[in-house]
Order: sequence, then structure tokens, then C-alpha cells
Amino acid sequence: MKDLNLIFFVDKNWNIGVKGDMLYKTQKDLDHFKEITYGQVLVMGRKTLEALPGKNGLEGRTNIVLTRNKDYKAENIILVESIDALEKELEKHNEEIFLIGGGNLVNQLFSHCTYAYITKMHYSFDIFDTSIPNLDELENWEIVKEEEAFNDGRFQIKFIEYKKIK
Ligand SMILES: NC(=O)c1ccc[n+]([C@@H]2O[C@H](COP(=O)([O-])OP(=O)(O)OC[C@H]3O[C@@H](n4cnc5c(N)ncnc54)[C@H](OP(=O)(O)O)[C@@H]3O)[C@@H](O)[C@H]2O)c1
Repeated sequence: MKDLNLIFFVDKNWNIGVKGDMLYKTQKDLDHFKEITYGQVLVMGRKTLEALPGKNGLEGRTNIVLTRNKDYKAENIILVESIDALEKELEKHNEEIFLIGGGNLVNQLFSHCTYAYITKMHYSFDIFDTSIPNLDELENWEIVKEEEAFNDGRFQIKFIEYKKIK
């Protein structure tokens, strides 16, 4: 499997979603996501696709979606039915690869992730059902870039980049 970049918006406890949706959205993060992923390859689970606007692949990017449903239909996506099929599909692409969600896919592919773009908010949501590993608690991940926090009018939010070191 090729190396994967993670790109996620997390709360203080690394929770990412509730009832099929993100915990929170803010324009500056959506712009940051577009800037980093534009022109690249996105990998996502079917539930993450369904959380995107229009439930279709994002424009300007190759969208690879995992589902076991062979008849699944959406616009601007490449369907793959297994991790093996994903590996084969990724061999056809030379761009950077971003695993954009969700928690289920991160659990299965975490050993192939080597870099992470994390937008972290300084707030813990009480209600959530999806999370990703807390990279601050893992010895083999380190912070390589940390921007000044900004306030979006409600919350303190920071862009942080992590790298896997072994
Ligand atoms: N905060 C963030 O940055 C962020 C980013 C992304 C997502 N999210 C949130 O995360 C949640 C969704 O995450 P999730 O973990 O529930 O689901 P998910 O990983 O997005 O999708 C899971 C689905 O992917 C398919 N799948 C998984 N493993 C597969 C395999 N090995 N082979 C074939 N298909 C496979 C299955 O689809 P089928 O059931 O169709 O077979 C499965 O139900 C939502 O709340 C979303 O808003 C948050």
C-alpha cells in the first residue's frame, strides 16, 4: 500500500463525527482542506462520502470510495470494494493520497498513514460516535508544524501537522 496522508478536523479528544455528520464546520478549515487536497487523490468510506455536499465526489480531485455495495451510485467517484482493490487502484495514480474519513477507514488503514494534517479545536463535544487515534499520545508521531490558533467567533482552532517517525 502506498503512503497515506490523514486530513481531519478533531475536537480536543480527537472525536470527529456524530450521526453521519462532522462535529463542527468552519469556513477557514474548509478552505484549508480544499487548498491541501486540490488536484490530489481522496480515499474515503461510503459514510464519509454521504457527509459531503450533494453526497458526490469533490470537484478537482480523484475520489475513491470504499463500499461493499457493488451497485452504489454517486457522481465523480471511483468505487472499490475492498482494501485490496483500493491498493490496486492507488497504483494507477501518481498524486498525493489523502485518507479523508471516516473513523472506520482510519482503523483499517492507520498502519499506512505517515503524515497528518489536523485541524484541532480547543473544545470537547459531549455527543459523538466517531473518533481517530490521538496522535499526541503516540510515541511514533511528532508535530512538525503548528500554526497560531485562530478564533472563528466561537472556538479556538489550530492547524497542526504530524509526521510518523518510525
Ligand atoms: N471531522 C472530520 O474531519 C471528518 C472527516 C470524515 C468523516 N467524518 C465523520 O465520520 C463519520 C463517518 O465515519 P465512519 O467511520 O462511520 O464511516 P466511514 O469510514 O466513512 O465509512 C464506512 C463505510 O465504508 C465502507 N467500508 C469500510 N471498510 C470497507 C472495506 N474494507 N471494504 C469495502 N468497504 C468498506 C462500508 O460501506 P458500505 O456500508 O456501503 O459497505 C462502511 O459502512 C461521519 O460522522 C462523518 O461526518 C469526520
